[in-house]
Amino acid sequence: MKRGEKMQKILITGSNGQIGSELIEELAKKYGAKNVVGLDIVEPKESKYEFVKLDATDFEGLKKVVEKYDIGQIYHLVSLLSATGEKNPDLAWHVNMSSLKHVLDLAKEKQLMVFWPSSIAAFGPTTPRENTPQRTILEPNTMYGVTKVSGELLCNYYFIKYGVDVRSVRFPGLISWKTPPGGGTTDYAVAIFYEAIEKGYYKCFVREDTVLPMMYMPDAIRAIVELMQAKKEKIKIRTSYNLAAISFKAKDLELELKKYIDFKVDYEPDYRQKIADSWPKTIDDSAARKDWGWAHKYDLAAMTKDMYQNLVKKLKK
Ligand code: SER
Repeated sequence: MKRGEKMQKILITGSNGQIGSELIEELAKKYGAKNVVGLDIVEPKESKYEFVKLDATDFEGLKKVVEKYDIGQIYHLVSLLSATGEKNPDLAWHVNMSSLKHVLDLAKEKQLMVFWPSSIAAFGPTTPRENTPQRTILEPNTMYGVTKVSGELLCNYYFIKYGVDVRSVRFPGLISWKTPPGGGTTDYAVAIFYEAIEKGYYKCFVREDTVLPMMYMPDAIRAIVELMQAKKEKIKIRTSYNLAAISFKAKDLELELKKYIDFKVDYEPDYRQKIADSWPKTIDDSAARKDWGWAHKYDLAAMTKDMYQNLVKKLKK
């Protein structure tokens, strides 16, 4: 950008969601509050930033927003997650796929940069579960996972065919205290904190020996920012990068949290156990580490401490 030139704005779709509500803060800090625009189907209680209420499957509506605000980058976070998607697979396909297609079409037409998150849900029961490679079998058994694999292929296609600068990571389960998550399988690792603090009891919907890859939100937000800032030639994978931080058993998290608070847990697996069992335990993210320098900071102990302390403060207010 030349000096004196006006910066193109950044659009965050799904800006009220688990990732969006934290990413918008970080991007506003970095690029200025005037340069970020949030978009969501639900109006937030309050918004410090420009906000548009829109269903992201509305192509014409989205196009108007991009033109009105002179958008240069879209962080497209709109999505139904795994457990919600299993309750309404048709809606998950519609929302997840058509909104991504619209974003990519607009990116092609207006030379926009795009970030779009994929997930460990792109993997399935036939994928090697330990140290899951970057390039491996992708046969998910959830509709959410199907939309992630399809979305990855679509992103790669738009890059090859039209040169769209779209970048993506396969997020593990994300743990955060600012915004409650909605409808994910890995969300037991968030719910356990709320219930321990508020009720002293948690009924966990996966078995105690369930191991899943997870990441603390500050690491996830930094991953997005670093990936989007990396020089174009460093981005060698245009489907989606494997990304890892911590892997632990549900029981490990219970024991770690018990260092701070006394509470009881019963393990009563439901339909989400099958989803968890179809996902990897550990991920090989060496390509992300090599190509654009990814490194996580939070381990289980650091995450649990920070999460617990912040949530206690938040829930007391
Ligand atoms: N956290 C997501 C889920 O459990 C995985 O991407 O659905």
